[in-house]
Amino acid sequence: MLTMRTLSAIVAVSLPLLLQAEGLLIRRQEDTSEHGFISSPTAGTEIAPGASFAFDYATSDWCHQGYSIFTVWLTPGPDAPTFSDVTSTTGNTRGSVGELINGTYLYSWGEFTVPNFAWLIGKAGLPPLGTPPPPTLTMPNLLELNGTSYTNADFYLTVVDSFWDCPPDIPIELGLDYVEIIYNATSAA
Ligand SMILES: *[C@@H]1O[C@H](CO)[C@@H](O)[C@H](O)[C@H]1NC(C)=O
Ligand SMILES: *[C@@H]1O[C@H](CO)[C@@H](O)[C@H](O)[C@H]1NC(C)=O
Ligand SMILES: *[C@@H]1O[C@H](CO)[C@@H](O)[C@H](O)[C@H]1NC(C)=O
Repeated sequence: MLTMRTLSAIVAVSLPLLLQAEGLLIRRQEDTSEHGFISSPTAGTEIAPGASFAFDYATSDWCHQGYSIFTVWLTPGPDAPTFSDVTSTTGNTRGSVGELINGTYLYSWGEFTVPNFAWLIGKAGLPPLGTPPPPTLTMPNLLELNGTSYTNADFYLTVVDSFWDCPPDIPIELGLDYVEIIYNATSAA
């Protein structure tokens, strides 16, 4: 079954002891409009191994951080990724970047950065920092890369978003967004 919309959610990095000590609860927000979403590819897009495809992640600046930072992944189906697959580079600290746990993904396209504050200092926003997201990504050929052949496979294009300094003073919160795609579709030309 195809999911015809992108499902999304946001949580704080789970560090139960620290959170307990600070009296904070783990925050989980689902389907809010406060985070970014994958607008391309759309659910059900067929992508051939080695093909390039349009990619667009509409970032959210809901914590008013200078830069939106996110990582992009290919995760296997049939089940969508969940927050138990999510971790972060340096734990629950500002500057940490959300990523997926080894073994939960098939491929990583890396980390991308989008400057914010265009509304404040002009159309260009802040100066570029890090790698801007490209307009297209290339689907890996997992047969060449890993010796695994997949036919008509349900995979997910998955984005892990990192928000710093969100109110009320949570050092980092992570957003998970994904869209189902079909890898090596049998109906593809
Ligand atoms: C995943 O594995 C790579 C290579 O073994 C390692 O460098 C990296 O730190 C690991 N990442 C996590 C989140 O465990
Ligand atoms: C696929 O192969 C690449 C390159 O050898 C490796 O880094 C990656 O961990 C492999 N992925 C899987 C899911 O086996
Ligand atoms: C794509 O699917 C075909 C069967 O339709 C299979 O023979 C081929 O190995 C698959 N390609 C990859 C890259 O997995």
